[in-house]
Amino acid sequence: MSYVIRSVRAHEWPAAKELRLAALQDPVAPLAFMETYEEAVVRPDSYWRERTAKGAEGADGAQMVIAEAPDGQWVGTVTVLLEEPGTTDWAGFPVERKQGHLVGVFVRPEERGSGLTEVLFDAAVEWAWAHGAERVRLIVHEDNGRARRFTERMGFLDVGGGEHYGGPHRVLVALRPRPSGVHHVELWVADLAAAEKTFGWLFHELGWHEYQRWDRGVSWRRGDSYVVVEDSPARAGDRHDRMAPGLNHLALHAGDRAALDRVVAAAPDHGWRLLFADRHPHAGGPDHYAAYLENADGFEVELVASP
Ligand SMILES: CC(C)(COP(=O)(O)OP(=O)(O)OC[C@H]1O[C@@H](n2cnc3c(N)ncnc32)[C@H](O)[C@@H]1OP(=O)(O)O)[C@@H](O)C(=O)NCCC(=O)NCCS
Repeated sequence: MSYVIRSVRAHEWPAAKELRLAALQDPVAPLAFMETYEEAVVRPDSYWRERTAKGAEGADGAQMVIAEAPDGQWVGTVTVLLEEPGTTDWAGFPVERKQGHLVGVFVRPEERGSGLTEVLFDAAVEWAWAHGAERVRLIVHEDNGRARRFTERMGFLDVGGGEHYGGPHRVLVALRPRPSGVHHVELWVADLAAAEKTFGWLFHELGWHEYQRWDRGVSWRRGDSYVVVEDSPARAGDRHDRMAPGLNHLALHAGDRAALDRVVAAAPDHGWRLLFADRHPHAGGPDHYAAYLENADGFEVELVASP
């Protein structure tokens, strides 16, 4: 997947406006959004500036996450609003615990069903977890079958329904997952640009998204774990030796077998070499469907297919 999933920046309000107006012209818009195209299109620039700034990178009450295509076009968006205990929520009920509320969920029709929505959704939900939310909610119109099915597939539970926003809606909730155990892994590299090419491509293919970036490093996140690649000023030596004591390889979830096969087929074009090719995909044992890849800097990654 060559899309970039990231938070908007405040100055990007014209693109945010364009995507919102496209969403409001979708046939399902009357079920999905609380305003009409006619209302939105006449709003002044100051409205779009303020709306974008509120959810921009660095804001802490909301985050608007977008998917950007290789040509720069924005193809999808999800916004997460943080609701603080002691306030009232969208329906006027008291908020008892810190929670996220997903709104403005939209993916352009030509990009639907491709897996992109999952990565976008994950990024918004992860932002809520990273900001201390204990649960995340989404309100979906009863008749918006596609959105309901998608949200349930993402692990949200339908906890009830009622008249909300002037129509019958379902309330879907995800609870903050228990930490998986690994907080993050940090790899020190001698050539950050080269490492970013191989790892950046791989993480994007696996549905991770860029999480942090600074002049000497970058990290990618999926769920509650992230991996840092850094050229630290304190680094000693130029070469990683996976056979020496220390980290031998990083093992990553790769989705189902077909998804793993797709990544493995494309990997040589992105700086990865298949190890143990004669025994692939069972080099790890007859019941283990996996691929072992190595990049030019000697880092090994194991991709594991779900059972
Ligand atoms: C909602 C939305 C973001 C979902 O993204 P998507 O890429 O279309 O989602 P996916 O295709 O991955 O998943 C949709 C699921 O619904 C199913 N589906 C499709 N049409 C359906 C329908 N009319 N009724 C029920 N299920 C339907 C699909 O088969 C798929 O389920 P599966 O994975 O079990 O096969 C996207 O469709 C969208 O932007 N819709 C318009 C705006 C909107 O409704 N926003 C949500 C407001 S709460």
